[in-house]
Amino acid sequence: MNSVTQPAVSSAPTEQLKIVIVGHVDHGKSTFVGRLFYDTGSLPEGKFEQLQLIAERRGVPFEWANLMDALQSERDQNITIDTAQIWFQTKKRQYVIIDAPGHKEFLKNMVTGAANAEAALLLIDANEGVQEQSRRHGYLLNLLGLRQIAVLVNKMDLQSYSQERFNAIESEYRKFLSSIGVEPKCFIPIAAKHGDNIAVRGANMPWWSGPTVLEMLDEFKVAELPKDQPLRLPIQDIYRFDERRILAGRIESGTLKVGDRLLFSPSNKASTVKTIERWNAPSRDTASAGESIGVTLTEQIFVERGAVAALETAPPYQLTRFKARLFWLGRAPFRKGQVYKLKLATQEAECEIEAIERIIDSSTLGTISRNEGEVFVGRNEVAELTLRVKRPVAFDVHADIVTTGRFVIVDGFEVAGGGIIAADNYPQRTSDSLHKSDNIYWSHGKVTDEQRARRNGHPGCVVWLTGLSGSGKSTIATELERELFNMGKHAYVLDGDNVRHGLCSDLAFSPRDRQENIRRVGEVAKLFADAGIICITAFISPYRTDRELVRKMVLDGQFIEIYVNAPIEVCEQRDPKGLYVKARANEIKEFTGISAPYEPPTQPEIALHTDQLTVSESVARILEYLHVQDADTAITI
Ligand code: ADX
Repeated sequence: MNSVTQPAVSSAPTEQLKIVIVGHVDHGKSTFVGRLFYDTGSLPEGKFEQLQLIAERRGVPFEWANLMDALQSERDQNITIDTAQIWFQTKKRQYVIIDAPGHKEFLKNMVTGAANAEAALLLIDANEGVQEQSRRHGYLLNLLGLRQIAVLVNKMDLQSYSQERFNAIESEYRKFLSSIGVEPKCFIPIAAKHGDNIAVRGANMPWWSGPTVLEMLDEFKVAELPKDQPLRLPIQDIYRFDERRILAGRIESGTLKVGDRLLFSPSNKASTVKTIERWNAPSRDTASAGESIGVTLTEQIFVERGAVAALETAPPYQLTRFKARLFWLGRAPFRKGQVYKLKLATQEAECEIEAIERIIDSSTLGTISRNEGEVFVGRNEVAELTLRVKRPVAFDVHADIVTTGRFVIVDGFEVAGGGIIAADNYPQRTSDSLHKSDNIYWSHGKVTDEQRARRNGHPGCVVWLTGLSGSGKSTIATELERELFNMGKHAYVLDGDNVRHGLCSDLAFSPRDRQENIRRVGEVAKLFADAGIICITAFISPYRTDRELVRKMVLDGQFIEIYVNAPIEVCEQRDPKGLYVKARANEIKEFTGISAPYEPPTQPEIALHTDQLTVSESVARILEYLHVQDADTAITI
């Protein structure tokens, strides 16, 4: 507890409710909070009198807002308050104000969910009426899942306490809120400056028979900790004591018991809870949502900060892309093609926009349209979009689990946006499939790799050609296959178009389908290599992470990535299947190089500039490479 805002009330109620106070910049938040603190006896002793005296000496009227400014500056200097939260209390309970007014990072903190507010007070100036910012805040509160909202129509004194004025504002703003599906708890006319309808009703608005602000606050419900939801324990730190390793974190949802089998994402490693440790408290066998704890495991597995522990039976999704609703606050827009940092629970990863489905003006609720080629989300805009992350992240849909369904985007060093993860048909890591993988083993044949290699005259490998459509992958692949065959080697081509007739006939060209296409092809290529065959693949395989996954599947040194590199203009000119013409005419959607991205390899084993090389020159380069490998017996052809 801090000394500055220690309330005069001595017996502290145990219940606590976290609130945010939002509103347009001049709509009187500071004055309101100053008055609220005064009326509830929550000010530090002598503070009010001190400021009153200062005002008197200066011959200026006392302002409630100055009170909060004074407290704020003490906070900023970190003299007495070391937390961004201040609190007051009623007889019923304690209220923590998340983000005191005057705090510039206010919206940002709301978006980041740095603190989970359970209720919100939204201020509107009776004089100015509903402003852009008022609508924006309403939209944002709803987006963040805050359902307990009360609207305070402030500065009623400047409108002669007019009931008509209050009714007009209420009806206008209610209409807006209802169009976004928000049902406010109530509207209250107040005059923060004079204290009307804050703690007491006063005589200025005899027509008001509704609650005071304090009465209404006490009606709000304290959010229950999500103990019954699936367990999510994002790991914050790993402490080592002798042999023991303690994984520390806050249980965001669910319940944990000693003996529980935990699955860690994204590593997919599992282990069993041996003990649950608490700081300055004896260890107990269970812990649940809201508790910060440490866990030791029976089998030592490698776990890093950022991992998310869950029960094996109900793990989070674990993917490299998800749909989201994002609110952008950054000065610079959120641009497609640029890389940003994503923070989700304790995870951090690089991410970028894959596609924007819709951009909404959070004040007018209208759809914003952009010129062709301009793919970005501007300041104060909300976007429905798909984000692509460089490595798999563990997440949930926000409607299911709040903390792992929410994320923040960092641009440079600044939190520039935040959002919630929308539902989609994400593939589940079901307990069934987990158990399946528990009980299946790789069955080893009696023929060894060496025996196979000796018989074939060479070991198997994967020669992975990647590049734009029309860059020459299939041509080079079939030519290489013929050369190798003529040399007495065992080679076989897996080609994009061919595989899509059968094995992958259920897949189209969305990023997720392409990912699955490459995963399947990777698995098949790996089996071919295992069978001792030189497997040549010709797939656009536009995403770097997908190709890297295949590289990891295949034995070390047996994955040869070849970048078939021809400028898009050249590919378009060649257009062997007439697809570029169709793509330009918008007849083919998501066409690589035109309306879908291609990520070139950063360190391919070979790069072939097919606009400068003939087909046989390209093939010769590959054969040369395979021969060179001969020396360290990786591939002996
Ligand atoms: S990948 O992106 O998933 O690797 P893949 O190599 O299997 O693509 O298939 C690419 C082939 O499909 C192209 O050579 C072209 O003939 C055909 N194709 C049809 N639609 C598209 C599209 N939208 N983008 C790219 N290729 C397409």
